[in-house]
Amino acid sequence: MTTVKFLTKNFGKYNVESISEYMEIGGFSALKKAVADGPDSVLELLAAAKIRGRGGAEYDVGRKWSQARDVKGENKIIICNADEGETTTFKDRELIKNDPFNLIEAMIIAGYVIGATEGFIYMRAEYACYRPILLNAIAQAKEYGFLGKNILNKGFDFNIKLYSGAGAYVCGEGTALIRSIEGKAGRPRMKPPFIKQSGAFARPTCLNNVESLSIVPHLILDDEKVYMSIVRGISVGTKMISVAGNVNKPGVFEIPFGVTVREIIYDLAGGVQDNRKIRLIQFGGASGKIATDAILDTPYTYEDLRAAGVMVGSGGILVIDERTSVLDFLRMNQDFFSEESCGQCTPCREGNLHIKIILEKMAEGTATETDICMMKKIARVMSMSSLCGLGETAQNTLMSAMKLFPELFEIGGAK
Ligand SMILES: Cc1cc2nc3c(=O)[nH]c(=O)nc-3n(C[C@H](O)[C@H](O)[C@H](O)COP(=O)(O)O)c2cc1C
Ligand code: SF4
Repeated sequence: MTTVKFLTKNFGKYNVESISEYMEIGGFSALKKAVADGPDSVLELLAAAKIRGRGGAEYDVGRKWSQARDVKGENKIIICNADEGETTTFKDRELIKNDPFNLIEAMIIAGYVIGATEGFIYMRAEYACYRPILLNAIAQAKEYGFLGKNILNKGFDFNIKLYSGAGAYVCGEGTALIRSIEGKAGRPRMKPPFIKQSGAFARPTCLNNVESLSIVPHLILDDEKVYMSIVRGISVGTKMISVAGNVNKPGVFEIPFGVTVREIIYDLAGGVQDNRKIRLIQFGGASGKIATDAILDTPYTYEDLRAAGVMVGSGGILVIDERTSVLDFLRMNQDFFSEESCGQCTPCREGNLHIKIILEKMAEGTATETDICMMKKIARVMSMSSLCGLGETAQNTLMSAMKLFPELFEIGGAK
């Protein structure tokens, strides 16, 4: 069993423009059940399901909701992070375009459990074509009384607004995303204050990824405990992954935790083009780490991937075949970060630029030992002293390449 249909079970089952068709297949029953059982029962369910945030940071969703519920403050906000800016990551858009009402239902449940009055969806600029789908879902949910005042006669008010980003990777970071929603330049800020206490418009805010939220209604209705029956250590349930690069059938797949990387690349994604050898595999997008084909028989779980030196992160998997050199790959990855650094803090702004320059020198064969030492130092300093997650993780790929391919970083080794 290499794929499952838990989170994707509604795909193709209803017309995504029709709330009545969604209700015919059980839509909004999870909300009704959540309201009937009460917030504590949802929190208990989430705690048992051990869902790790699917946006990349892997923070426990149940714990986040519990903390958000406990925070004191009026007019709390739920934000759905639909920025999906991480490279090779394109699984959230499948959930948005194939099951928009489930996402809306999930946000209403989050609002009810946490005690929020408003929900915001922050969607990347490039997904403008999906705006009408979400706007229609919001409008119809309002028309049917699932949004607005006194939802299900429980005295609970909740509304959802859709925001679009302007195309910056950094706006997927929580504080930058919030500033962008507030109409300010989308740049991260120092923490504390933490978002949960003072987020959008200084109101307590709970931020979750599209996939993290989308799991919740399915989990509430999962009487047969399908999700909970898939257990591999601390990895429970299913995961949406996106596979890209030099494979025959790139795409998005819902897998049970525990299938091997080989099954993902060779069965689901159809293998490497023209049966070429794999040069490297990057996990979790540009800010992720890389591995060689030695990882192929590793089960795709949080702990197994970590033990193998990489991470699940955003769920993106990029396969690079032997035609691309490791150095060229690193240069391409570095171009991304040099472009996307918001420039606000020195380690990230200057560090990304200088690493880019040294990688270029390596490609020309003019890098000195001092350059390579400096590059290692900069990478370390960036990960320790950058203001936000972008600068902290920008050098993950480079640092894992240094471990896997040490010869490349010897003078003359890049040739
Ligand atoms: C530079 C940067 C970009 C990010 N981009 C995204 C993104 O596109 N989507 C996302 O869900 N999380 C992204 N994150 C992680 C979010 O900051 C946050 O951890 C996540 O949305 C929380 O949701 P979760 O706990 O459900 O995963 C990004 C983080 C950083 C530092
Ligand atoms: S780490 Fe980079 S992206 Fe983050 S605030 Fe600093 S300069 Fe901006």
